[in-house]
Amino acid sequence: MLLFLLCVAAVSHMTGAALTSEQHDISGCPIVVYGTTYTAVYVSEYEASLFFCFDRFKDASPGDCVRTSSAGVGSVSLSLSQESVDSTSPQYTKLEGVQGSSSCSAQFSIMDANNNNMFSLILSLYGEIYGVAAVNPTESESRDLYLEVSPETNAVDSISTSEATELSLSGCKDQGAVLRRDSKACLSDGSVGICSASNVFTSERCNHCENGECLLGLWCSVTGFSLIDVSGVLISIRDRCGYSLLSRDGLHLGAVFRERRRTDVSLLDHLILTVGSTHIHIGQGAIKLNGSLVNISTAQMPEGLTISKTSSEISVLYSQEFALHFDGHSALIFIKGLDVSAVTGLCVDAGIDLNTAKSPELSPDGCDNAHTDVEDRTISCPTATTHCNLLNSAGFASCHAHVDPAPFVSSCTQALCSYPSVDGLQCSFHQTYEALCSRANVVLPDWKTETQCEGKIGLCLDIYCSEHEFCGVNLNEETCLCRAVFAQKYKSNKTFGEPTVCGDNAASIYLIGCLLNEKGIKYSELHLNDPVCRGQMDPETHMLRFGFDSAHSCGTEVTTQDSQVIFKNSIRMKNQTGMVTRQDQFTMDFSCFYNQPRLKTVALRIRDSSVVQKIISGAWSYNLSMKSYLDPSLSQPILPQTQLQLDQTIWVQLSTSGLDHSLISVVTDSCWATSQPQPDSTPKYDLLEHGCANPNDRTVKVEGNGLGTSNFFSFNMFQFTGSSDLFLHCKVVLCNHKNSCVPTCGSRRRRSIYNDPNPALISLSWAS
Ligand SMILES: *[C@@H]1O[C@H](CO)[C@@H](O)[C@H](O)[C@H]1NC(C)=O
Ligand SMILES: *[C@@H]1O[C@H](CO)[C@@H](O)[C@H](O)[C@H]1NC(C)=O
Ligand SMILES: *[C@@H]1O[C@H](CO)[C@@H](O)[C@H](O)[C@H]1NC(C)=O
Ligand SMILES: *[C@@H]1O[C@H](CO)[C@@H](O)[C@H](O)[C@H]1NC(C)=O
Ligand SMILES: *[C@@H]1O[C@H](CO)[C@@H](O)[C@H](O)[C@H]1NC(C)=O
Repeated sequence: MLLFLLCVAAVSHMTGAALTSEQHDISGCPIVVYGTTYTAVYVSEYEASLFFCFDRFKDASPGDCVRTSSAGVGSVSLSLSQESVDSTSPQYTKLEGVQGSSSCSAQFSIMDANNNNMFSLILSLYGEIYGVAAVNPTESESRDLYLEVSPETNAVDSISTSEATELSLSGCKDQGAVLRRDSKACLSDGSVGICSASNVFTSERCNHCENGECLLGLWCSVTGFSLIDVSGVLISIRDRCGYSLLSRDGLHLGAVFRERRRTDVSLLDHLILTVGSTHIHIGQGAIKLNGSLVNISTAQMPEGLTISKTSSEISVLYSQEFALHFDGHSALIFIKGLDVSAVTGLCVDAGIDLNTAKSPELSPDGCDNAHTDVEDRTISCPTATTHCNLLNSAGFASCHAHVDPAPFVSSCTQALCSYPSVDGLQCSFHQTYEALCSRANVVLPDWKTETQCEGKIGLCLDIYCSEHEFCGVNLNEETCLCRAVFAQKYKSNKTFGEPTVCGDNAASIYLIGCLLNEKGIKYSELHLNDPVCRGQMDPETHMLRFGFDSAHSCGTEVTTQDSQVIFKNSIRMKNQTGMVTRQDQFTMDFSCFYNQPRLKTVALRIRDSSVVQKIISGAWSYNLSMKSYLDPSLSQPILPQTQLQLDQTIWVQLSTSGLDHSLISVVTDSCWATSQPQPDSTPKYDLLEHGCANPNDRTVKVEGNGLGTSNFFSFNMFQFTGSSDLFLHCKVVLCNHKNSCVPTCGSRRRRSIYNDPNPALISLSWAS
C-alpha cells in the first residue's frame, strides 16, 4: 500500500503540479513568427512536451509553437527585459543576416521541480522581421528545441542546446505553405513559393516544380498552325490572319499565320512584339524594328528588351516577364513574371473565341478567305501518324512526367496530314517538345536519330525573303520560294512574271525571283540577246528586271509587220558548259509591238522646206535637192509654217540639176527615218529599200524612180514613239542609161543593177 502511494506521489511529482498551463502577456515586447505578430505566449505541457505556443494552448492541431521535452520541468516563469541586445553579440552564431539590435526581450526561465534553472528561452525581435528564440542552457545535458509553424506538422527548424543557441522565427506563410526566410518551395498547386530575405512572400506559376525550383515555368507554344496554351489546351488556326498571344497595357505579342506551299494551309510566319510604341517583327531571316530591317547586335531596343540570335533560334527576353524563342517554324514562350490573371491572349487562354483573339492590325484584308488546293500525293497520313507517335515512344518517355506529349502528337498529326513533310516542319513538333524537356533538365539523347531529324532542317534564319515569299528547302538548298496564293496566278498562266511593259522606246519585264528558284534557275545565269545585258535583282522584292531602250539596245531586233513596229528580244540562259545538263534551256521572248501612229493629234512642222546639196560623183558634178509637198502634183511645197498631222500623206521629191538626162538617170536607192539626226542611228524605220517601197508599209508609193533626173515618193507621216523628231534620209545613186535603171520591185528581190561608187545621202527633218 505504501509502495503504491509512493508510486502515485512520484508520478504526480514528475508530471509537475507546478507545470500548469499558463498564458503569458508579452505585449510589452511582441514577437513576429513567420509574418504574424503575437503578444502572448501560451505555455503548456502536451504529450510529454513543453510547448511555448503563440496563438493558443497546444492542442491536437498544428500551431505556431516552440517545443521541447518536458522531462524534469517543474515550472516556467516570464520576465520582460527592456535591455537592448545587439545582434553582433557572439551568441548569434547560427542566424546569418541578423542585423540591428533588439530593444527588448521576453525571457522565460524553465526550472526543475527543485526550482533550479534548467535553461532560458529568450524571444527577441531584430528589425521586426528577424524573430529569434535563443536558448541559454544552464543544465549539463543537451536538449533539443523545435519550431513548429502551422499548418506544417513537421518542425520547420530545430536546435540543440549543446551546439546552437537560436531558432529563427523569420519566414513566410501563405497559401498553406511555410517557407523559411530566403527560401523557395513547391506549393501544392505546382507553383513555386518564394520567401525573400526580407520575409516577403511571392509565388510564381510553374508547370514543373522540384525542390523549390521551377524547372518548367508556364509556357505556350505555336508550331505550324497549332497553339498549345499555358494549361495545355490545343487549338488550330486555319486562316492567314494575325492573333494576339499575350496582351497587357503597353505589351503585346502577336503571331501572324501565312500560307507557304499550299493555299489551304497556313503556318506560323512571324511574331510581332509591341513594347510601348515600338513594333518588333521577328521572322525567318528578318528582325524589323518599326518596319525597318535591323542588325540586332547594334540596334537600339526598347528598355528591358534584349534580342539575340544564334544559327538555330532568335531569343527575346522582356524584363522578367517573358522569354520568346523562335526557330523559323515554332515559337516557344515562357511566361515568367507576368501576372497571368492580368493578361489576355491565346497563350493564357486558348479556349476563347478565336475572333476575339484576332488582331485587326495584324490581319490583312481577306486573310480569312478560304482556299482549296489540289491533293498532294506526297502527304501520307499513316506515315505522319507513325512519325508523330514517336513522341509517345520510349525515346521520349523520360520527359512524359514533365511535359504531356498528347497535344504535341495531335498537333503534329494534324499538320502532317494536311501539309507535306518538308522544310523541317516534320521535325519542329519533336524539337519543341525536346526544348521543353531540356528546360526541365531531362536529356533525350537519341531523339534526333529516332525521328531522323538530324542535319539540315530548314530553319532559314539567315535568309531574307520578301513579303510574297517564305524560306524553304528546294533541291537541298534553303531558298526563297513563292507563297502559294501569290504564285497561283502566275502558275495558272505558266509565266515567270509580269507582262512586258512597253513604252518610251523602251521595254522592261519583271520576272519573279521565287518562281525561278523553284525551277532551280539561277538568275545570274540569265541574260538578253546581248549576253552583257543581265537582269537586276531587287534586294527587297526579289523581282528580276530585264530591259532595253534606245541607249541600251541589248541585241534587240526591230522589224515591221503590217502597220506595226516590233522590238524583239529574249531572255536566255547562259550556255551550259558541262557535259550534261538537266535543265531545260530557258528562253523567253519579250517583244513590244508599236502600232504605227494613226492618231491625228500631233502637228509636225518641217525644219527646212528643202535641202540642196552639191554632189560630185566621178565625172559628174550636180546639185541634189530634196523637197516635200502636200500634193501629188508637187505644187504645194511644205513650208516651215505648214502644220502636218500624223498619217497625213506627203510627197517627197528628189531632183537634180546639172546632169545630162540623156545619159544619166537618178535612182533613189533607199529612204529611211530615224529619231536621231545621224542616218545610222537606231531605231531605224525603212520607207524604201533597193529602190522599192518597203512592202510592210503600205502607205509608201514610189513614182518615176530611175526614169529621169528626178523622182518622188509618198508616204503617210508618222512619228517614233517617245520622240518628237523625225529625220528622213535618202540615198541616191546615178545610173547609166545603158542599163535598165528602173528597179524591179515585187516579191523576188534582185540585186541592184545600177552602180554608183559615190551614192549621195540627203536628209530632211521634222519636229512636232
Ligand atoms: C518606333 O516608332 C515609335 C513611333 O512611331 C517611336 O515612338 C519609337 O521610339 C520607335 N522605336 C524605335 C526603336 O525606333
Ligand atoms: C551587325 O553589326 C555587327 C557589329 O557592328 C557586325 O559585326 C555585323 O557584321 C553586323 N551584321 C550584319 C548582318 O550586318
Ligand atoms: C494571266 O492571264 C490572264 C488571261 O490571259 C490575264 O488577264 C492575267 O493578267 C494574266 N496574269 C498574269 C500574272 O500575267
Ligand atoms: C551559245 O550557244 C549557241 C549555240 O550553240 C551559240 O550560237 C551562241 O553563240 C552561244 N552563246 C554564247 C553567249 O556563247
Ligand atoms: C548648184 O547650186 C549652186 C548654188 O546653190 C549654183 O551656184 C550652181 O550653179 C548649181 N549647179 C548646177 C550644176 O546647177
